[in-house]
Amino acid sequence: MCGIVGYLGNKQAFDILIKGLHRLEYRGYDSAGVALVDNNGNLNVYKTKGKVNNLEQYCKDKNINGTVGIAHTRWATHGEPNDKNAHPHYSQSKNLAIIHNGIIENYLTLKTFLISKGYEFKSDTDTEVVVQFIEYIMQSQKCDLYSAVTHTLTQLVGAYAIGVVERNNPNLLIAARKASPLIVGVGNNEYFLGSDASPIIEYTNKVIYINDEQVVKIERGKEIEIHDLKNVKLQPVINEISLSLDDIEKGGFEHFMLKEIFEQPKSLSLCMNGRLNKELNEIKLSAITDFGDKFDKCQRIVITACGTSWHAGLIGKYLFENLCRIPVEIEVASEFRYRDPVILPNDILIAISQSGETADTLAAMELAKKQGAFVFGICNVIGSSVARMTDTGVYTHAGPEIGVASTKAFTTQVAVLVMTALAVAKRKNSIKDEEYHSIIGELSHIEEKINKIFQQVDHIKDISKIFTYAKNFIYLGRGYNYPVAMEGALKLKEISYIHAEGYPAAEMKHGPIALIDEEMPTVVIAPDNTNHLYQKVLSNVQEVKARKGRIIAIVCEGDDGVAKNADYTIEIPKTVACLSPLLTVIPLQLLSYYIAVAKGRNVDQPRNLAKSVTVE
Ligand code: M6R
Repeated sequence: MCGIVGYLGNKQAFDILIKGLHRLEYRGYDSAGVALVDNNGNLNVYKTKGKVNNLEQYCKDKNINGTVGIAHTRWATHGEPNDKNAHPHYSQSKNLAIIHNGIIENYLTLKTFLISKGYEFKSDTDTEVVVQFIEYIMQSQKCDLYSAVTHTLTQLVGAYAIGVVERNNPNLLIAARKASPLIVGVGNNEYFLGSDASPIIEYTNKVIYINDEQVVKIERGKEIEIHDLKNVKLQPVINEISLSLDDIEKGGFEHFMLKEIFEQPKSLSLCMNGRLNKELNEIKLSAITDFGDKFDKCQRIVITACGTSWHAGLIGKYLFENLCRIPVEIEVASEFRYRDPVILPNDILIAISQSGETADTLAAMELAKKQGAFVFGICNVIGSSVARMTDTGVYTHAGPEIGVASTKAFTTQVAVLVMTALAVAKRKNSIKDEEYHSIIGELSHIEEKINKIFQQVDHIKDISKIFTYAKNFIYLGRGYNYPVAMEGALKLKEISYIHAEGYPAAEMKHGPIALIDEEMPTVVIAPDNTNHLYQKVLSNVQEVKARKGRIIAIVCEGDDGVAKNADYTIEIPKTVACLSPLLTVIPLQLLSYYIAVAKGRNVDQPRNLAKSVTVE
């Protein structure tokens, strides 16, 4: 939620900031703004409602000089998306400007206090309170900006990643973070701020990950300084990242989402690289080699995540229970964190997050950790907060996912869960060698099977065009494909704004069947006619057909049961049950994508959404 960028160096900041905002626009896109400090005593703030393109237009005839600046693309929390609530925000005297990602929970108390001191507010945001308070501290305590920021942060309750600049000081850029992501890029006599590495990677691969409650002072011609809130000086740790520019560009695809759907064979291959040994037919995960004893001892696994990652977690429940015979509870992180959950001795908490910055997931991890659980992370973004908070874990290595609707993150999360469950099952002897080897054998062919599904893309596009009229969709699946039904429905909702629900197929007759008529499309996922649940799904399909429902079925090649009853079928190659989500989800992603495109939706930046939900 919200993207922040900053620059201090020898180049003009404006172009770097705007380019950075474009790269971060997936995080929020209801308004955007920039603040620039020039050498003539100006601190210019320009901001507009709408996307970064609007801001660029707006700035066409403005003074955009300055080699230090900050910029922001917003996902509104406090105050509607409009010009006045867009960031940066000035302080009362207009000597300071701030950008902020996060939520300040005690902003009303601070605002009331500041109003009593004569401060006036121009926006409805929590952020403006922070910059006004910084100015109040500077004036009342006669201190410099750095000390005032540090002092102010000790008074804040909530989450923040901030950047602050000062008129008359074109040599200074201050930043800080708590529970919202912030990275500093270290170039040649220049520094960059970013909510992630995407606005930075074009200029340098050297980054410093800023930790919670750390304040950064970037001063022209000096080494970067980092302090904690008690003013203890900390040693900056410079990391080299391997992200490339190609990874974060569209590469000829119309949308990031489409590129990311088609990247799945490659991202799965990267995910399994060095972990799945095709010759020895075995899985090796260092997290399990090093911490397998935790799984030997545990009586229970708790999985927590949000959205798509939670759907992957549900598949994880089936995997760990089926293959490892370990009981699994799964809960969305926002419920888990406030439910006062019981954590038992030796519990393992598996937290799943693409971004590694989801506020609810982080809070759930913190709570479980405090109560003694061993925390295992499954995460895509290297160096993210989730990655840093876990006791151990496995990166998904999906590469940057920029489309707001998650696709390759989901399949790589499922692949990591499969590999982890297999590695644990092997050491617990809860799986027969034959099954272990058969799953690994199938996993090693998954890329070619996904590529085979891509051959049907025109067929899926044609089906999509037929269903743009629909106002509602039902998705049905069983076993491993029940979470896929929910994921398919979420994808459709997110990007086409068509209402959709995913159900375990047999639940349909307990309510949703009332919705079925000739207008209502039902997507049925029934990939395996040898599976013991197949006949049951077939009965559900017949129940829908009897009520004139229209059926799109995802079936295995050569299926002659469900397919016969369906209006449209999409065939996928056969695989073992626990890997079928890796295949069945692909046509559902494509179906959603093409329906959304046919309806003229903004697929990569759907309304009201943001990629990384760093607020509650
Ligand atoms: O980064 P995370 O995996 O923690 O994000 C969790 C959800 O916010 C995310 O999966 C969301 O549901 C996506 N928009 C799904 O497409």
